[in-house]
Amino acid sequence: MTEEKPGLESDYWRGVDRTGDPGSFVGYLDKAAVSLRDAWLEAQRLLELRPGCSVLDVGSGAGQFLIEAASNVDGIRAVGIDFSDTMVKTATSRAHAAGVVVTFAVGNAQHLDFPDRSFDRVNCSRVLLHLEDPRAAIHEMARVLSVGGRVVILEPDFDAMMIDSKDLRIASAVRRQLTAGIRHPDIGRSLRRLLLEVGLDVLEFSGVARTVPSLQAACENFHIRDHLDAAVASGEVEADSVEEWWRLMEAADTSDRLFVGPVLFRALATKTSL
Ligand SMILES: C[S@@+](CC[C@H](N)C(=O)[O-])C[C@H]1O[C@@H](n2cnc3c(N)ncnc32)[C@H](O)[C@@H]1O
Repeated sequence: MTEEKPGLESDYWRGVDRTGDPGSFVGYLDKAAVSLRDAWLEAQRLLELRPGCSVLDVGSGAGQFLIEAASNVDGIRAVGIDFSDTMVKTATSRAHAAGVVVTFAVGNAQHLDFPDRSFDRVNCSRVLLHLEDPRAAIHEMARVLSVGGRVVILEPDFDAMMIDSKDLRIASAVRRQLTAGIRHPDIGRSLRRLLLEVGLDVLEFSGVARTVPSLQAACENFHIRDHLDAAVASGEVEADSVEEWWRLMEAADTSDRLFVGPVLFRALATKTSL
């Protein structure tokens, strides 16, 4: 692969180590971690982490979620698995630097290398949207969860990506370009159904529309200027109409009227039977 610009393309996230610059994907996650911190703290609360309990983070990325969880709750057995060796090495060295005991290992969410019922808690954030088979990954999470355990999944729904603008036709064209590279842009709304299908009990399920703080962040996180240009190149919208649209987006940004973002879904589930 030659593309070295991390964004939302599932092909890159499924093979971070094969991209030209895996470190840039760590940088992308670090930026996102700042805006996701409130959602992760809430996920930690819902997981009800207690001293002595074991927690698995599926697709643990650069390790931010588990390192913070292990810093907040003494005596948990924390394990993160990720398909990318770069992510695992980064997370491992960060855990050492933070002085917490967390094990990070290379693994595949769709075929977890753990026995049945081996974790009290399972967390998964922003991974399923990129996988070939998210249902297999949810099935695996349910399999390794102990009876009475809790799983929390956070997934954005990019098919519900909203851009507040004067022209819905252009906003929709940008969304279509953006979702074209995402394997499951509608995973967020599917979470409750998928959890029920693998036999878990869903205790909570909700979605919140989130905005990025600036147009620059919308470009960095979602590449919306690139997708706008791609919509023009594909003939979906006319070049002369998009420049005025972009100018209005810039004006909205400078006057604190911008709204650009997906719906972030969260599911909390438990296992009541073997
Ligand atoms: C968008 S990142 C999210 C990372 C982290 N959970 C977070 O929210 O910051 C997706 C992560 O999933 C990992 N990944 C992709 N395919 C995977 C698979 N089959 N099994 C486990 N991890 C995978 C990627 O390497 C990457 O670290």
